[in-house]
Amino acid sequence: MFTFRPMRRDDLPRLIVWQQSPAARRWFPQLTLDEALERFGPRLDDPSGVRMLVVHHEGHDIGFADVFRVRDLPPGGVIPADVDDVGIDFCIGEPELVGRGLGTQLIAQLAELAIWVFPEATGIVACPNHRNHASIRVLERNGFVAGLWFDAPRSDGRMETLVAHRRPR
Ligand SMILES: CC(C)(COP(=O)(O)OP(=O)(O)OC[C@H]1O[C@@H](n2cnc3c(N)ncnc32)[C@H](O)[C@@H]1OP(=O)(O)O)[C@@H](O)C(=O)NCCC(=O)NCCS
Repeated sequence: MFTFRPMRRDDLPRLIVWQQSPAARRWFPQLTLDEALERFGPRLDDPSGVRMLVVHHEGHDIGFADVFRVRDLPPGGVIPADVDDVGIDFCIGEPELVGRGLGTQLIAQLAELAIWVFPEATGIVACPNHRNHASIRVLERNGFVAGLWFDAPRSDGRMETLVAHRRPR
């Protein structure tokens, strides 16, 4: 059973560690605390855009998740999805909890939360890197279907190829 709470600025050091955990570091740029504050501070101060969440499991903070409306993405961050969809991103950042089947359960709960936050959403979309097989599997196990492939710049300027995965709400 997972629970979620709004992320705070003092969670950013943990976020950096989670993004650099063995399962995650291929998919996230390495940030300094100053870079994380610059990048995520505005989102944390104004949760009307991307909602950044800390994922809690059995008494511990174990990772993070994002929930956002596709229509609220800035022009540079647009993904191939319906503007009425809700987007999710997720990470189990504690190495001992990865690969134990928890990801499938996390996506099930996160999808439910996303629809609770944005009840008018028509679908749920996530865009893993095309090589991120663990992420693709947990999405498939939750009924998401692969759609368009697209290239997008990461915050460190490197391009990566992502695959939009969607399921109707
Ligand atoms: C993606 C993530 C949430 C998956 O959670 P998990 O608990 O590790 O996944 P599960 O144990 O539920 O495994 C799900 C499936 O992926 C497979 N899998 C797990 N790790 C894998 C890997 N490295 N390569 C290929 N398949 C993998 C499992 O075998 C399982 O497949 P199955 O359904 O055929 O049995 C987790 O690995 C994670 O947080 N990774 C880092 C962050 C990240 O990649 N986020 C995605 C951003 S879109």
